[in-house]
Amino acid sequence: MERTLVLVKPDGVQRGLVGEVVSRFERTGLKLTALKLIQISASLAERHYAEHKGKPFYDGLVSYITSSPSVAMILEGPEAVAIVRKAIGSTRPAEAQPGTVRGDLGIDVNRNLVHASANLEDAAREAPLFFDESEFVVYERAVDPWIVG
Ligand SMILES: Nc1ncnc2c1ncn2[C@@H]1O[C@H](COP(=O)(O)OP(=O)(O)OP(=O)(O)O)[C@@H](O)[C@H]1O
Ligand SMILES: [Mg+2]
Repeated sequence: MERTLVLVKPDGVQRGLVGEVVSRFERTGLKLTALKLIQISASLAERHYAEHKGKPFYDGLVSYITSSPSVAMILEGPEAVAIVRKAIGSTRPAEAQPGTVRGDLGIDVNRNLVHASANLEDAAREAPLFFDESEFVVYERAVDPWIVG
């Protein structure tokens, strides 16, 4: 079973879009196994965005993600990484398809509402930056009623 990290970034929280965004992920059918409101520190932001260090947008990225609270969550399920990446849409909102978070709700690449792990390797690196193992809730979920057999 795959596990992926999603963040509703500060612009999403400031705009009151946490519920809207979480709802979209819930409706995919993936299982929410950890969720919290978090003020990301500079050191956490630097570890999270280590791959972008040295790029022209890096400093702005770190100051944006630390500017006010974010919501962090872990979603689990078959092909969770790809399903969540599809649901958030392309990095640039202008290129993101309608029906995606960024395509429907964003206009600016610097304020693109959400982060999601890009691949399994990133997911495995990122999840422990945000959550201790003790913060995961293990539970069984009733089968969705429209699934027969
Ligand atoms: N060319 C750019 N100019 C400005 N900001 C950028 C640019 N490329 C990426 N970013 C910002 O850096 C973040 C991380 O870039 P990355 O290439 O990892 O995109 P992503 O994987 O779609 O987004 P995320 O990692 O946030 O899910 C983007 O979400 C965006 O806010
Ligand atoms: Mg990325």
